Amino acid sequence: MYIDKVYLENFRNYDNQEIKFCDNINVIYGDNAMGKTNIIESIYLCSMGKSFRAKKDNDLIKFDKDNCKIQVDFQKKDRTGNITCKIDKQKTFFVNGVKQNKLSDIIGKINCIIFTPNDISIIQDGPDNRRKFIDMMISGLRPNYIQLLNDYKNVIEQRNNYLKQIQNEGKPSEILDIWDEQLSTLCSKIYEYRNSYVEKLKSKIEDIHSMITGNSKEPEIIKLKYISTGDTKEKYLNNIIKSRDIDIVRGYTNVGIHRDDIIIYINHKPASRFGSQGQQRTAILSLKMAELQVVSDEIGDSPVLLLDDFMSELDEKRRKVLLEKIKENQVIITCTDKIELKEDKNKKFFFVENRKIG
Ligand SMILES: Nc1ncnc2c1ncn2[C@@H]1O[C@H](COP(=O)(O)OP(=O)(O)O)[C@@H](O)[C@H]1O
Ligand SMILES: [Mg+2]
Repeated sequence: MYIDKVYLENFRNYDNQEIKFCDNINVIYGDNAMGKTNIIESIYLCSMGKSFRAKKDNDLIKFDKDNCKIQVDFQKKDRTGNITCKIDKQKTFFVNGVKQNKLSDIIGKINCIIFTPNDISIIQDGPDNRRKFIDMMISGLRPNYIQLLNDYKNVIEQRNNYLKQIQNEGKPSEILDIWDEQLSTLCSKIYEYRNSYVEKLKSKIEDIHSMITGNSKEPEIIKLKYISTGDTKEKYLNNIIKSRDIDIVRGYTNVGIHRDDIIIYINHKPASRFGSQGQQRTAILSLKMAELQVVSDEIGDSPVLLLDDFMSELDEKRRKVLLEKIKENQVIITCTDKIELKEDKNKKFFFVENRKIG
């Protein structure tokens, strides 16, 4: 698939902007703070229903305005379509002009994968970044999963509130049985999704990684391992019940899929602790490329790649491997230096300056 056009109205630093992309490589270049990432952000918003960096939707509206509009026109194998997002006091989405009531109804219509320098935090930072990575990937492919995550969040919140009431107000602990039952059911369902997608990533990442590191003096082996406090409903329930006394003392739930992790190993050692900066960067490139292959297989089409300042993270060799692997995809790249990529007939260049794109 590819993005044909983007229209921005009072979005971030843009007043009125129309951008027509080509179906292959699009390079958006210009100095810092000119509005390159804002364009990537607008596409991501219409794909995943939210920004990858704004804390509040209102931050997306131009400073002196009270509403904004983003429209993304896309082309799939057999049809065209568009997604519109309007933000004023609230955020509303439209698919081909028809208002949508649920966020899950727009997610997955535009399939895109974003690469940013910040992705390194998936390896370097805590498990919440890795859960977010796998959750966003699954959400883009299986909208039902979003509902499961929301249900889970609600049950945890209610259970945690009740845990505090047991401690502070002496409420009976047996009532927890109801939450524990719901929690363990949701845990096992979410586990199934996460486990199956980690397996899919595993089936891709090892080959990709050895291709990237293959010619170096020391070829590397990469492994992924999904870790959870259970797998079946019964195991989760057992572990949740075992943890009940501690939960009551602490006032929050210690067992469940909100504690899951995906460990990334390089040469059998956790990359987060023992990987060099270079190894971690290569591992993240392999992980994102594995994601790309899994998503392509699942949708039977080529997702759009959004590379935000990502090329500058890669040395010549890695850049080459990446570009080689994404020939079939539409790519939208932002960079400060146009020279990073040679001009040819498959590329379209956009120069961004003073809130205008030339
Ligand atoms: N809500 C907003 N209204 C107006 N300008 C904004 C808004 N949010 C961000 N900006 C401006 O957008 C610019 C940053 O855009 P960005 O796309 O991140 O730049 P870059 O070209 O470096 O990727 C900054 O100049 C910032 O002040
Ligand atoms: Mg930027």
